[in-house]
Amino acid sequence: MTIKLDEKYIKKFASDAELAAMRARVRAAHDQVVKATGAGSEFLGWRDLPEKYDRDEFARIKSAAAQIRSDNDTLVVIGIGGSYLGARAVIELLGASDDGLEIIFAGQNLSSVELDRVIKKLDGKNWSINVISKSGTTTEPALAFRILGAKLSEQYGDAARQRIYATTDAARGTLHDLATQNHWQKFVVPDDIGGRFSVLTAVGLLPIAAAGVDIDALMNGAATARRDLAQSDDLAGEYAAIRNILYEKGFTVEILSCFEPSFAQMCEWWKQLFGESEGKDGRGALPCSLTFTTDLHSLGQYVQDGRRQVFETFVTFANSPVEIPIERAPDDADGLNYLAGKNLSFVNRMAYRATAQAHFDGGVPNLTLELPNIDALSVGYFLYFMEFACALSAYTLGVNPFDQPGVEKYKNNMFRLLGKP
Ligand code: PA5
Repeated sequence: MTIKLDEKYIKKFASDAELAAMRARVRAAHDQVVKATGAGSEFLGWRDLPEKYDRDEFARIKSAAAQIRSDNDTLVVIGIGGSYLGARAVIELLGASDDGLEIIFAGQNLSSVELDRVIKKLDGKNWSINVISKSGTTTEPALAFRILGAKLSEQYGDAARQRIYATTDAARGTLHDLATQNHWQKFVVPDDIGGRFSVLTAVGLLPIAAAGVDIDALMNGAATARRDLAQSDDLAGEYAAIRNILYEKGFTVEILSCFEPSFAQMCEWWKQLFGESEGKDGRGALPCSLTFTTDLHSLGQYVQDGRRQVFETFVTFANSPVEIPIERAPDDADGLNYLAGKNLSFVNRMAYRATAQAHFDGGVPNLTLELPNIDALSVGYFLYFMEFACALSAYTLGVNPFDQPGVEKYKNNMFRLLGKP
């Protein structure tokens, strides 16, 4: 199982000599990741995680997930940013829609309308909370937890404490202290893993397992990627080299495009990963995303014909998990009989090929990452691939991939306006 990278629509935009020079820069970045010599290297815990994760905690995650599934109709997952996006991405891509347990996300905004919707959905339900915050003090999840935690206590009294699962720092922080005092089940966000690199820790794994996704397969996929990417001429390096060449030539917007709508939240995870890791010191390609073919009928026009600042990365899947055949109609009243005998997935595949060529012809460099299947193994591979590519790309760009100083600015203003002591 591996990822395939198709770069035929890049060649016109990057000469062999430019590619060779950039590959050399990426190899130096690869060294920084492998030897932990780059900026922020104290946050490289994600790098070996797929092999070196805590097996005891992993077993506790599985049993907590089984408990959650047997006790509840609904699990409310509270978190924001890196403590939210990865779990939601995997669950929306792989979680079964007809599963007994509904997962609802809260704490990723400050909207009363949204929280009110969550509260109304919980009416008459059996539910538990997984509250996730590394720092334990982020305002959005902390407020949502204060309000929803009170509702849980109202409904279950003292037994509410068996319905709260806290994922936070191993030793310190407000959430850690609350969890200890109240005897909630605790899971750990390791010190050496930042939020946006934490999907394969308890941060992502507990909600993902609760959604019924096979987390053994997810970790196996990530472990395969780790082994593949240990070589310095790996595909993550090639992706990092291509995006840095294009960025330096003025293609400053990268669009991640997929022809599977259930991948849209994965794009959100990817946007945070690259946006927070590279967008600093006045640098970094702006990560955006589109869902096709839907967006070919809206922003497709801009991509095809608008300002030439965009490059595109397509994510495709070699196989579709379901096939819907197109039947022959006796009268061909809709004129679609030319597709009879084909599957809908074939039409979707042709739409991808047509789009990649049209965008290339319109001056949009594009590459394709093809995964074998929409399953836990492929998704685990993709998550690790992108984390590794992001670290390589940011070091090649010349920034620290693992800090996010800009995120503090709005918080400081907000706390001043709110009169925080
Ligand atoms: O990637 C990051 O570090 C951030 O997006 C954090 O995950 C986010 O701000 C939430 O932080 P915390 O888990 O401390 O509540």
